[in-house]
Amino acid sequence: MSLRDALKIPARQITEESVYQGRRTLLQAFAIAPALTLAGCADAEPPPPPRTVVTPAQARSGFRTSEALTRYADVTSYNNFYEFGTGKTDPSSAAKTLRTRPWSIAVSGECAKPGRIALDDLIKGLTPEERIYRLRCVEGWSMVIPWLGVPLGEVLKRFAPTSKAKYVAFTTLADPKQMPGIRYSSINWPYREGLRIDEAMHPLTLLATGLYGKPLPQQNGAPLRLVVPWKYGFKSIKSIVEIKFVEKMPETAWHDLQPSEYGFFSNVNPAVDHPRWSQKTERRIAGDASKLFANRIPTLPFNGYAAQVASMYAGLDLKKWY
Ligand code: MTE
Repeated sequence: MSLRDALKIPARQITEESVYQGRRTLLQAFAIAPALTLAGCADAEPPPPPRTVVTPAQARSGFRTSEALTRYADVTSYNNFYEFGTGKTDPSSAAKTLRTRPWSIAVSGECAKPGRIALDDLIKGLTPEERIYRLRCVEGWSMVIPWLGVPLGEVLKRFAPTSKAKYVAFTTLADPKQMPGIRYSSINWPYREGLRIDEAMHPLTLLATGLYGKPLPQQNGAPLRLVVPWKYGFKSIKSIVEIKFVEKMPETAWHDLQPSEYGFFSNVNPAVDHPRWSQKTERRIAGDASKLFANRIPTLPFNGYAAQVASMYAGLDLKKWY
């Protein structure tokens, strides 16, 4: 008898393993075919964003949800952090080697006050707030997590971005001594992500330093990571060491690897399938329904944050700019 029969889990609830294996296979294919070069994203630029104003009340309505929380044990043992291996349970054991103090961040590019800054100074004077956000991974699972963090926009303003700062690029630490996964060319290290400046300044975008009232565990991206709840989880870059204000859309780690599968915007969108799997539903890991028993629920546009963020994409073809 298979494990699935034994547990009486409907097949539709455990398809993520194949999805996940598909992503692994893709990684392996790229690892053995390094000569295959892929187009960057700098050759095309989307239309400029509309000037939208999110009211404080609108923003606040996204700061909490009454949905069942994902258990601390699941949040901290089912992770994607490829610098520590591609298996979901790899980071919780392997990331113990990540030294998170002292930690500093280099801020550069189109801003009046660039410089290297210690983590404590970066967030000095800003009181970490608790925000309960859904986070949906492109692989089809989702969690509801009480994060602790400061609004990224408040931090970025300290560096006085200029009018040329159209995007913000982020980079993760890439130290093979602390990060065993870096020794494998699964993705082109360092892990890189980017946001359009209005997305980075949006009040929902969080620079997280903790979860469940405690400092971030290493596997969740200590000592600081992004949480962008209306985008697929891979936009929420972990263990950030560099922030750069740039004029052109920056290259990102997953787009660099496979542009047809991972676009720059990566807004959660059930109407746009990933080329190799549907994005219409998700497996919610929450409450007692941990991992194998997770409920399958419909995925909402912008991961349920449309009221707060959809206006930023008015006029943008979301099928083209996935
Ligand atoms: N950041 C780095 N540096 N490396 C990664 O592999 N994985 C991303 C994102 N940030 C990743 C990363 C992906 S695919 C997801 S789904 C989320 O982190 C998972 O965050 P969590 O482990 O805290 O749930």
